[in-house]
Amino acid sequence: MHIKGITALVTGANRGLGRTLTRVLLERGAARVYGGTRAPDAVVEPGVVSVGLDVTDPEQVAAAAAACPDATLLVNNAGVLTDNSLLAAPSLDQARLEMEVNYFGTLAMCRAFAPVLARNGGGAIVNVLSIASWLTNPAMGSYSASKAAAWAMTNAVRSELHGQGTLVVAVHSGYIDTDMARHVDGAKNAPESVAEQVADAVEAREVEVLADERTRLAKTALSQPPVPAV
Ligand SMILES: NC(=O)c1ccc[n+]([C@@H]2O[C@H](COP(=O)([O-])OP(=O)(O)OC[C@H]3O[C@@H](n4cnc5c(N)ncnc54)[C@H](OP(=O)(O)O)[C@@H]3O)[C@@H](O)[C@H]2O)c1
Repeated sequence: MHIKGITALVTGANRGLGRTLTRVLLERGAARVYGGTRAPDAVVEPGVVSVGLDVTDPEQVAAAAAACPDATLLVNNAGVLTDNSLLAAPSLDQARLEMEVNYFGTLAMCRAFAPVLARNGGGAIVNVLSIASWLTNPAMGSYSASKAAAWAMTNAVRSELHGQGTLVVAVHSGYIDTDMARHVDGAKNAPESVAEQVADAVEAREVEVLADERTRLAKTALSQPPVPAV
């Protein structure tokens, strides 16, 4: 699927990886890029068409699907990390928030846009997941659970949409140099690198992006018995 000439919607497009993705799509010749943003005054890349979109709000999700009838690529990038462990977190609120945004929000967008993509010839969905779908850091256990759920959902959606010709891409990455990982010292992927890999995968019709060596190792290690991570 060529990026040149397509119409894309990227959620969480006002900063971080989402904003970079919108820029890379435009650079590769996308005809129109819609950028989902929560705040009415959010700034997006020049050339991006802003769409008010909180992925946890069913009315806004439905309105976005109606506002982007020409979409051929949906990038579910919006996500949240509360940095809480499962047992020591003060309540279930943080775990619920991560599931609401990272899992249910992504699923709601897939459901809303599947018919749009079908009408437009199949197209593609990209779900931005994480190395944390597979590698559980106990300090952010509820985030990992939400990304593992989103991975399982992505695989099921891929099967459900196979018949209509929709490519469904899962993106797994270690830390990316954005606000979300601002507190992290050490190696981080440049958002440009991840965004270019996403665009490459869509163009090559590949179903998975493993953005760095650590993520590739984490996937390989899934065949091994789990060991406690500390
Ligand atoms: N950074 C990393 O280390 C890393 C690693 C692997 C995967 N990821 C994943 O990459 C994706 C992008 O993250 P990032 O690093 O760019 O994080 P970020 O800089 O914190 O940006 C998150 C984006 O998601 C939006 N968002 C959050 N909740 C939303 C909601 N309910 N509805 C719509 N938009 C919402 C935010 O909007 P506001 O500006 O309104 O808050 C913001 O635009 C996420 O799915 C994340 O889990 C990140």
